[in-house]
Amino acid sequence: MNSPDTTNQQIAEHYDRTQYTSNAFFYSSPGHLRATAHLYGVETAPVERARVLELGCAAGGNLLPFVLAYPEAHAIGVDLSPLQIQQGQKIVQDLGIKNLDLRAMSLTDIDKGFGEFDYIIVHGVFSWVPPEVRQAILRICRENLAPKGIAYISYNTYPGWKAGDIVRDAMLLHSHSASSDEDKLASAKAMLTLLSEGLSAANPLAPSLRGAVAQLQKHSDYYVAHEYLETFNSPCYFLEFADAAQQAGLAYLGDAESHSEISATYGQNVQLNHSLIAMGQPKVLRQQYLDFAIGRNFRKSMAVHQEREAEVAIGPDLERLRDLRWAGFFTRGETPEGGPADRHFYTNHKGGPLNTTETRIIAVAKALSDAWPATLPFGDLVSKVRALGLVEGDESVLEQEVQKALETLFKLNQLRFSLGDGPYDGSHGDAPALIPGFMHLHEASKDPAFGVGRFNLWHDGAKLQLKDAEAFILPHIDGTNTLAQLRTRLRDALQQGKVAATDGKMLTGQRNLDAKAQEMLSKLLDLLKRTGVLAG
Ligand SMILES: C[S@@+](CC[C@H](N)C(=O)[O-])C[C@H]1O[C@@H](n2cnc3c(N)ncnc32)[C@H](O)[C@@H]1O
Repeated sequence: MNSPDTTNQQIAEHYDRTQYTSNAFFYSSPGHLRATAHLYGVETAPVERARVLELGCAAGGNLLPFVLAYPEAHAIGVDLSPLQIQQGQKIVQDLGIKNLDLRAMSLTDIDKGFGEFDYIIVHGVFSWVPPEVRQAILRICRENLAPKGIAYISYNTYPGWKAGDIVRDAMLLHSHSASSDEDKLASAKAMLTLLSEGLSAANPLAPSLRGAVAQLQKHSDYYVAHEYLETFNSPCYFLEFADAAQQAGLAYLGDAESHSEISATYGQNVQLNHSLIAMGQPKVLRQQYLDFAIGRNFRKSMAVHQEREAEVAIGPDLERLRDLRWAGFFTRGETPEGGPADRHFYTNHKGGPLNTTETRIIAVAKALSDAWPATLPFGDLVSKVRALGLVEGDESVLEQEVQKALETLFKLNQLRFSLGDGPYDGSHGDAPALIPGFMHLHEASKDPAFGVGRFNLWHDGAKLQLKDAEAFILPHIDGTNTLAQLRTRLRDALQQGKVAATDGKMLTGQRNLDAKAQEMLSKLLDLLKRTGVLAG
C-alpha cells in the first residue's frame, strides 16, 4: 500500500503527463450557486466581492471567467499538478489579473489559517482521489467556509455508475500490463469493442453496458484516461455522500442543477411513483429514491454549515423563480419539411434544440434573446412580453404566463439566471468590445498544447471557428472602434487583398465593398453575441 504522499505524487505526475483542458462549468460558478441556493431558501454572499476557493482547479479555467467578470472579488485555486498551475499562472500574468492566486500544492495541506471563503468549489475531484483526500475536502468545506458560505462538490454516483464500474474493470484488466500511457489507453479502448460489438445477446446487462460504452465513446481520449483509467474512481450512493458531509459538519442544500431534483422533470410516471414511495421521507432519502428511478451517475451537490439546516427547503421553490434575473438566447430555425406549422424550432446559445407551440414560451424566448447576454428581472420580462403582443390578458394573467414559461424553460435547463445583476449587466460603451481576456485565450488556443478552454462570462464554453476575414477583424473589436470603423477596416483589407472574403474568394482591387464588409461584420457580431463573448 502506498503512503498518502506517494499517492499524491503519482496523481500529480499523471496529471502533469496527460494533457488536461481546464474548462469553465456554468453550474459551478459562484453566481449560479448563489441564485440556485436562493431557490432552496438560503441566503448567500453577493458575488461582486466574494472570496472563492477552488480545490483541484487544474489550470484555473473555471475561475478565470469569475475573476475577469468581478475584479473586486478574489479567488484562490489549488492543484497538485505544478504543470497545470504554471499554465494558469502564465495566463494570470499575461492578462495582468490581480484577483486570482493559483497555487501548486496538495489540498490536504490547507488548514484553518488558509482563510474563509464564501464559495468553495470542488468539481471533478472527489471521486478521483484517495479516501484521506476526500476527508480533507469535506473538512475544508467545513473549516474554511464562511458562515453564509456555499460548498459545491461534484462526484460520480450509483446506481448510474454500476455499469460504468464493469466497463472500467474490464478496461483496467486489459491495460494493466501496458508500459506507457498511450499503450494503456489503446488497450483500454480495444476492450470497448468487446463490450459493445462483442456482447452476447444473452448477457442480461447488455443494454446498460452498451449505454455506458456509447456514452464513453462520445468523449475525448483525455476524458477516457481521466474518468476511467485513474488509480482512483470511487462512485458512491448519494446517501453515502450526504452522510459523510453531515459527519463533517455540513448540511445538504441541493443540486447545483436544481431542476434535476424535481421528479416531474422526468415525466409523469416518475413523478407519481416517486411521490408515493417518498412521501413524508427526509429530503436526502427522497433524492436517493429519485436517483434509483433515473439511474443517476453524477451529482453536483451544494452544502452549507449544519447550523443552517433548518433554513433549507426540501426542493427548489419555483415561486422564487420570480426573484431571479433571466438570460437566454434562441435563434429560430426552419420548420422541418412536413413539420407542424405552429411549432417553432429554435437553437439555444449552446447550440441545443428547443421546439415549442406555446405562445408564452415563444414570447419569453424572444424577449430574452433581445436582451442577451444581459439579464432581465421578472418585472421587465413581463413588460417586454406584453409589448410583443403575443400573449393577452391583464397584468396578473401575464405574470402567470411568464412564470409558467420560465418554469418550463428552467426544467429544460435552457436559461441562465442570477440573483442580482448578471455578469453582463451594467453600462457598456457604444463601440463593440470582446469580453476581457477572450482575445488572448483565442490566440493562445491555437497552440494544441494550451491547457485552458475558452469561455464566456456565464462560464459556458466559447469555441469559435473563424474564417480569415473574421479572424482579421476580431482583435479590433476592443471597444475603441465603432461599427463604421470596423467596417472600413475590413473593406480596406478585402480591397487590398490582405484577407479573403468569408466565402474564400479574393476581392483584391474591387470597389464598392462596403455592403459586403458590412454583411460579414454583422454575421460575425451575431456569432459573437450568441456565444456570449461580446461584452454587452
Ligand atoms: C479530473 S481533474 C478535475 C480538474 C477540474 N476541477 C475540472 O473539473 O476540470 C482532478 C484534479 O484534481 C487534482 N488533485 C488531485 N488530488 C489533489 C490534491 N490532493 N490536492 C490538490 N489537487 C488535487 C488533480 O491534479 C487534477 O487537476
